[in-house]
Amino acid sequence: MTRSLGRPIDPHGLGKLAMLLFAALLAGAMPAAAPSDVSGFWVLSAPTGDGNLMKTFLDLNQSGDQVSGTAWIRSSKFTIREGSYRWGRLHLNVGLSTRHPEHFVCYDGTADGGKLSLTIHEWDLPLAVGTAERGTPDAMAPPVRLPLPTLHDVADNGLARTPPMGWNSWNKFANRVDDVTVRTMADAMAASGMKDVGYTYINIDDTWEGPRDANRNITGNRKFPNMKGLADYVHSKGLKIGIYSSPGPETCGGYPGSYGHEVQDAKTYAAWGFDYLKYDWCGANRIYQTSEMPAVYQKMGDALLSTGRPIIFSICQFGSPDVWVWGPRAGGNLWRTTADIEDTWKTMDANGFSQFVIAPYARAGHWNDPDMLEIGNGGMTADEYRVHMSLWSLLAAPLLAGNDLRTMTEETRSILMNKEVIAIDQTPTASYVKKISEQEPLVVAARPLLRQRWAVGLFNRGDAVAKMTVTWKQLGWRGKQQVRDLWAHKDLGCFTDQFTAAVPSHGVVLITISHSGRGS
Ligand code: GLA
Repeated sequence: MTRSLGRPIDPHGLGKLAMLLFAALLAGAMPAAAPSDVSGFWVLSAPTGDGNLMKTFLDLNQSGDQVSGTAWIRSSKFTIREGSYRWGRLHLNVGLSTRHPEHFVCYDGTADGGKLSLTIHEWDLPLAVGTAERGTPDAMAPPVRLPLPTLHDVADNGLARTPPMGWNSWNKFANRVDDVTVRTMADAMAASGMKDVGYTYINIDDTWEGPRDANRNITGNRKFPNMKGLADYVHSKGLKIGIYSSPGPETCGGYPGSYGHEVQDAKTYAAWGFDYLKYDWCGANRIYQTSEMPAVYQKMGDALLSTGRPIIFSICQFGSPDVWVWGPRAGGNLWRTTADIEDTWKTMDANGFSQFVIAPYARAGHWNDPDMLEIGNGGMTADEYRVHMSLWSLLAAPLLAGNDLRTMTEETRSILMNKEVIAIDQTPTASYVKKISEQEPLVVAARPLLRQRWAVGLFNRGDAVAKMTVTWKQLGWRGKQQVRDLWAHKDLGCFTDQFTAAVPSHGVVLITISHSGRGS
């Protein structure tokens, strides 16, 4: 039995239906209420899925179907690299790094009435879906400015007598770090032998933070449901644990910072059992001047000290202005001296080889930090990673591995766990490295060690293998001296007056020279 449709279908009705369908299709492509022009100021709020809201501000200019303008992401201002608005669909590509064009954020979505529904992608990761509404730049106004303390010297906390060693989540995992990752990294550090050669700290970087509770106490977000439990677990492995925050209202990743809650947050970290804090400037830009950094960092230095718990204080504000001078006074055990490292020869080379002039500022309890290690992350060759490890050790830089410790290759292990190289880094003297010769692209650097020994790195930053020489005269010695190759783990014998080696491109020969008593 066929069901009656009520009325017979007439051909005009079909035509109408087709027209309606066509109109509906058009409407799908270009919503009826879509604005014809997206120029103007937009405020985008997007839940990031872990209990936080990511806020972005867009100031757009439309010309034809091209869109240009500015985006403020995580308290930094970026120029929109390319943008279009066609048929109610908006596409924006914001480059975050001129050094790394592959680091970008994309906004894609549709206009819906007076709003824009946008999906945000960072690199290849879908970050959030949110809605942008028209607003004014007032929405970006920073919170009320709080007074800063007058300057004084924060007492030395007695920690980090040698450069801190450990692991940090940022280089490999960025915003993908979570509780399980941290626990399994602690397992791997204990099981791999890293702990035995001195790696101690398991440091959680940005994106652990959740909203503040009713008492304004900071909480972990959905990725970190139990911060105290996590700290206990890491301690149970015989390791220590680190955390991350910012003196600004937001961290570099746009998560809640410690602004106005410095003492409260320090107490929370201590109550959870944390042993290390990395305190990262970014969001503080909205409130303070660069010249105020010493007072801003001193505030947290004091707050950490007043908890009574030994907590290493890692200052991160990229080096300016002269943090190596005021960092120790603000209570810093280490301070970043450079822009962010990436897993490339170019950034590692730039960060590492720029450090010689400030090397004399490093001393027990207070270290220059040219950023964390990229060894094992896959972007450099083994030779380049050996340069990374050798240079950081000569510089007495903190050794914070930034790779996945659970899946290390033998080669990565052999670089990160070279005890002889680590021993240079951890040399308990106030000695510092000096460049003893430089003939672009070749650098010879030497650091005095205990018991009449020198560590010497013959670094070839060029594109072809090169013969390189260190003379004993450059070290104030002469005659016959014993040489040991720290990457080959081999005594090379006695050499008179000098040592010459063929050094691979983007490579290093790292030796110790021991006074044999012959000559002087
Ligand atoms: C800055 C720091 C990095 C990392 C990120 C986290 O860029 O320099 O080391 O902590 O912030 O957002």
